[in-house]
Amino acid sequence: MLWACLSPGAGPGCGAPSGTLDQTPTYQEMYRPQLHFTPPRNWMNDPNGLVFYDGEYHLFYQYNPFGTRWGHMSWGHAISLDLVHWEHYPVAIPEADGVMAFSGSAVVDWNNSSGFGNGERPPLVAIYTGYREAEKIQAQYLAYSNDRGRSWMTYSGNPVLDRGLADFRDPKVFWHEPTQRWIMVVALSADHKVQFYESTDLKSWTLMSEFGPAGSDQGLWECPDLFPLTVEDGSQQDRWVLQVDLGDGAVAGGSGGQYFLGYFDGRQFEAQPLGASAWAGPGLAQWVDYGQDFYAAVSWSDVPIQDGRRLWIGWMNNWQYAQEIPTDPWRSAQSLPRSLHLRNVGDGLRLAQQPVRELQSLRERFMQIEARQLSDETFTLSETGFWGRRLEILAEFEPETAREFGLRVRVGQQEGTVIGYDVTRSELFVDRTRSGRSDFHPLFARRHAGPLPLRDGRLRLQIFVDRSSVEVFGNDGLTVLTDQIFPSLGSEGLEVYAVGGSVKLHSFTAWQLRSIWR
Ligand code: FRU
Repeated sequence: MLWACLSPGAGPGCGAPSGTLDQTPTYQEMYRPQLHFTPPRNWMNDPNGLVFYDGEYHLFYQYNPFGTRWGHMSWGHAISLDLVHWEHYPVAIPEADGVMAFSGSAVVDWNNSSGFGNGERPPLVAIYTGYREAEKIQAQYLAYSNDRGRSWMTYSGNPVLDRGLADFRDPKVFWHEPTQRWIMVVALSADHKVQFYESTDLKSWTLMSEFGPAGSDQGLWECPDLFPLTVEDGSQQDRWVLQVDLGDGAVAGGSGGQYFLGYFDGRQFEAQPLGASAWAGPGLAQWVDYGQDFYAAVSWSDVPIQDGRRLWIGWMNNWQYAQEIPTDPWRSAQSLPRSLHLRNVGDGLRLAQQPVRELQSLRERFMQIEARQLSDETFTLSETGFWGRRLEILAEFEPETAREFGLRVRVGQQEGTVIGYDVTRSELFVDRTRSGRSDFHPLFARRHAGPLPLRDGRLRLQIFVDRSSVEVFGNDGLTVLTDQIFPSLGSEGLEVYAVGGSVKLHSFTAWQLRSIWR
């Protein structure tokens, strides 16, 4: 069934009162992302319930149907066939009876272990935190769908896991084949711990073990995820990745993610020292993203084995200023979907993230520069006829004597965002101090940097530029920076530069990209 709300002009919450009643979404607003998912109107935070079923990628998300700030948390819903284009669906799980629907996950219950199925097809089951506002209690709740995620029923036996705690949230559930059980990883946020529970029917849960405090104990621990990845070195070895978010005190300031690598035997997670000296993370952990706008990342459940990818998406915002960003009538975007990889970097294993290949379908006008040397100079590509505010860029540099080199994107008369490499410090950085509007919060105009050793003396960059963000993947995603920016619409310039010496630009290819909304 096609909903009347499906067009970008309407969408979830259509018909519901909005905080910005007079603003009709057009998807042409100045800062409206054209490559990233945004709800037509109102507030969004974490991605939730990511599950693939019957050819469809579901994206649920923390949503306030009634305004552009956090509140009335409900699960908004969108569906994609290709991880690129999204269709909006009505709110799946609304706030009801004083219980907000906080973050959580969804699974395909293939064997109908929950008994929620109606015999025709396996039910989709969502496991989320119900926040009982009056009592200030967080507990785990279930909802299910028997019509491919189109409509959702909350379980009459809710809550299914209630320990009377104030900070007990964001359950991520997956099927553990070797032990034939469901496993839940969930955050004891204020204790900087995650707990692991087991179940055979998704309804009754038994505590198995805990992990933490470890890594960073800043902020509150939120939105954990746990999954295995095969090390991409031909050894066929698996490691488990435990990703845990911090509400504050992350590497770029404010909220951000860390991850641990180790072993999970179906009961207990044991972290291994990462040993990658070039990347100094917090204790046993490593940072997921060195920009300021990648939070609450969770991975898709039930991606077919033939596909084989582990895919995730994160909230492209930061609790430090999320409620102040100058967008209207919506607030917040999701990151581009990324595939996850485990690479051996010589002295340890490291998580790499790459934008999904499906995004190549957006490539439109294309330009290439011949290999050239840049010597203490700026090469303005926009003067050669290439510019844009929706771009994908692939570039490979080899520093010679330059102290710093890189690109400037979204360049206008008074502004530009620098994506550069500091040779002395071996650091990839994004400098958004002069990127456009930043007056809405004192902590926004900053430079963010992450360690990244050169590979065979070279730096390879893949960059996505949108109306209000940049995502930078260094050396095939070993170091990633995700940052929002708010430049003028007319700032479309593109430059390559070198400072303090020379750099060899081995290759440079850029595409203007089609909008996902047309
Ligand atoms: C993370 C978070 C979660 C919580 C949700 C509430 O951004 O704080 O821990 O479930 O947002 O909207």
